[in-house]
Amino acid sequence: MDLLGILMETFASLSINTIKTALIWLLRAAWIAGILPVLIASLPSPRLNSFHTLLLGFAKRGKIMSSSSNRFTVPQSFFLHFYLLGVVWTTILLMGIWYFAYEVAPLGSESLSYVAAVNHLTGGSHVFSLHKSRFTTAKDRFNVWKSVFLLLLMEIHVLRRLYESFHVFNYSPSARMHIFGYLTGIYFYAAAPLSLCTFCALEAFNFAADQVAEFKAEGQEMLSIMDFDLWGYVKPITRLGWCQWAGAAIFAWGWFHQFCCHAILGSLRERGDQTAVYVIPHGDWFEIVSSPHYLAEMIIYAGLLVASGGTDFTIWLLLGFVVANLSFAAAETHRWYLQKFEDYPHKRPICSDHWWNC
Ligand SMILES: NC(=O)c1ccc[n+]([C@@H]2O[C@H](COP(=O)([O-])OP(=O)(O)OC[C@H]3O[C@@H](n4cnc5c(N)ncnc54)[C@H](OP(=O)(O)O)[C@@H]3O)[C@@H](O)[C@H]2O)c1
Repeated sequence: MDLLGILMETFASLSINTIKTALIWLLRAAWIAGILPVLIASLPSPRLNSFHTLLLGFAKRGKIMSSSSNRFTVPQSFFLHFYLLGVVWTTILLMGIWYFAYEVAPLGSESLSYVAAVNHLTGGSHVFSLHKSRFTTAKDRFNVWKSVFLLLLMEIHVLRRLYESFHVFNYSPSARMHIFGYLTGIYFYAAAPLSLCTFCALEAFNFAADQVAEFKAEGQEMLSIMDFDLWGYVKPITRLGWCQWAGAAIFAWGWFHQFCCHAILGSLRERGDQTAVYVIPHGDWFEIVSSPHYLAEMIIYAGLLVASGGTDFTIWLLLGFVVANLSFAAAETHRWYLQKFEDYPHKRPICSDHWWNC
């Protein structure tokens, strides 16, 4: 490699690291900016009452939002947009990083297909040696596959939520949410999948861009290495550690119960019923808490955190945001049930058991 090549690689490597650091801190700053107001508004001080009311005005939706004013609101059914965005964006990230992981970060001993692919593709170019040099340690390669795993779980979550938006929930036409809540939701489904893969998202993006450029240059010749090796894509996932599988089990537990609770909520009205009639939900976790679907969402993200190994502060903040945001909504929902129904089971806590009353 000549001096110019080395310099260019160093520059490219520096700039990608700088962009990566900026991206990570931007995401963290945004999660903190979402968590702090909720924490402050939840402090038990009468001086913060007006701040609490202000924040509630932004966060309210559906049954807990007064229908007196529709200013700055959108239909609550616009939740669908969150999951459309979530599915498209998570799929793009998942496909890109999975392909990147397969080509650049084999788990275990360097696989023959990997060496063959690199030899075939480099052909004297610096592109692959650059990507290769970034993920040389076993730990780095493991972390790339861990990102694939986290995105797979996220994909499973957003796909179900998209399905439920069409086929399970039956939003009443009068249910609204504040435009601020809507924009927060859009931000959430752009930032959450990205927060799960900051470790290698930029490198995977760069790699994909290089691949497209090579494909344009070499066209047909490249097709030979694109023969799909399904087991090669799946096998490294089976080699992940106990932490990932424990996280997946927690995720599955929350995922399943959220599915059950959403089915219960969706069945409270006849399909096509346009009225906003509310009743006391029963069954599954509704017997123990007021907003089990919010509790299940927290468990889902706790599962993602455990699956990540708990070493990435950005994923801690992501969970912090989900817990803060949904605890706030759950507390309001609980108050609403108590006011609306005289026979509401008073023993039902807000969104978790007594030891964790949000
Ligand atoms: N990750 C996050 O930060 C985040 C943030 C927000 C929401 N979420 C998730 O998104 C999911 C939906 O949240 P959401 O706030 O839209 O839930 P929601 O307000 O409970 O509403 C869900 C659906 O159930 C209906 N419903 C709720 N309570 C009812 C009752 N007592 N009687 C009859 N129908 C009832 C609602 O009717 P109406 O159409 O009349 O309101 C709506 O169609 C939750 O699982 C939540 O965890 C996640």
